[in-house]
Amino acid sequence: MAIQIPRGTQDILPGEVEKWNYIEGVAKSICQNYQYQEIRTPIFEHTELFQKGVGDTTDIVQKEMYTFKDRGDRSLTLRPEGTASVARSFIEHKMFGNPNQPVKLFYNGPMFRYERPQAGRFRQFVQFGVEALGSEDPAIDAEVISLAMDIYKQLGLKNLKLVINSLGDKESRIAHREALINHFKPRIHEFCSDCQNRLEKNPLRILDCKKDRDHELMKTAPSILDYLNESSKAYFEQVLSYLDSIDVEYEVDATLVRGLDYYYHTAFEIMSNAEGFGAITTLCGGGRYNGLVQEMGGPETPGIGFAFSVERLIAALKAEHIELPVEYDVDCYVVSIGDEAKSTAFKLLHDLRTAGFSAEKDYLNRKVKAQFKSADRLQSKFVAVLGEDEIKQNKVNLKNMQTGDQIELPLDTFVEEFKKLAY
Ligand code: HAM
Repeated sequence: MAIQIPRGTQDILPGEVEKWNYIEGVAKSICQNYQYQEIRTPIFEHTELFQKGVGDTTDIVQKEMYTFKDRGDRSLTLRPEGTASVARSFIEHKMFGNPNQPVKLFYNGPMFRYERPQAGRFRQFVQFGVEALGSEDPAIDAEVISLAMDIYKQLGLKNLKLVINSLGDKESRIAHREALINHFKPRIHEFCSDCQNRLEKNPLRILDCKKDRDHELMKTAPSILDYLNESSKAYFEQVLSYLDSIDVEYEVDATLVRGLDYYYHTAFEIMSNAEGFGAITTLCGGGRYNGLVQEMGGPETPGIGFAFSVERLIAALKAEHIELPVEYDVDCYVVSIGDEAKSTAFKLLHDLRTAGFSAEKDYLNRKVKAQFKSADRLQSKFVAVLGEDEIKQNKVNLKNMQTGDQIELPLDTFVEEFKKLAY
């Protein structure tokens, strides 16, 4: 049997890849408006980076990483997410010393998680993400959220729900942690072994457990919002009021905990409400990670960001029946009649392309009728017909495929004349 693609990965074929480019183009141009600059980090990193950054007790680190030894016996991991890498790079390149602060970055690239593949869940997926490092102004939280919403809105999505929570600062988290331990401890034997291990290490993770999600203690678990100290509460209120001021609608959900350990204060997800979107409704996730840079050996630096996968975004577009204005068409197809016209047609094709037009010709020695069919299939706007007689008379017959109109243009100035028609 022929070798097949690995489970949980996909080929993005012509016809589909144009959508990806379009989406990435929109996201990049919105990042430009918001003054976020692109960063590219390696696809693999030292395993330790994610153990420290994402957190030892998370599903990602415990179950989902593609970890391997290289020939030098180093443990490396295909990146499961982008934030830890950006924080590493921020420290390594001393970006905390940049004159422009906060440092605002975006990235776009493949991530890898060994998850059970299903609709919207892949083992290789492309994340578009942003990170703003160096500011603890609640307005930056609102800016980051609004940037994500703008990308979705500009692409035409309407059925969106922004869910937001605060995980509080360290002090609030410690108080909540104690409350969670007291809540779960008496009946922890009814939970899965992962939850049992997490009870003392990181009880917040229990709330994120996929297996025990329906246990009655989950519903009655102490809410973080009841444990926020005054300053955390005030911070959260300011974030919400900034969102109000720019008319970004949200729903506060005290049960929202994210699957990564680095979050403090703001945590949010954007979900799709579209009918038929599927079981996984989260399009985008993000939040504030004030301890991460310091944890990884850098100076104390607050940060906030988000990431979404292009795969889920495309699924949401499909669910809302949104067609992107993607252009596939060809400006001019050059049809040649007879062997002698071939080299002139080839030259004309080249001249059109160097003048900036998208142009094509036949390479299979097809008859004129089949060449026209080919031009049709490619949705070519014009077809230039070159025969031996036309060449002798310095003429090209040009057909407008939308209107059916035909005109003759001089061969030696064809591209110049074509420019006037096509623009
Ligand atoms: P995350 O919630 O793990 O957060 O992932 C963010 C987004 O990546 C998800 O909302 C989803 O769109 C996409 N995603 C995750 N796993 C898969 C998968 N297996 N298949 C398809 N799409 C997937 C993070 O990764 C954080 N680094 C986000 C962040 C940035 N927080 C602060 N800055």
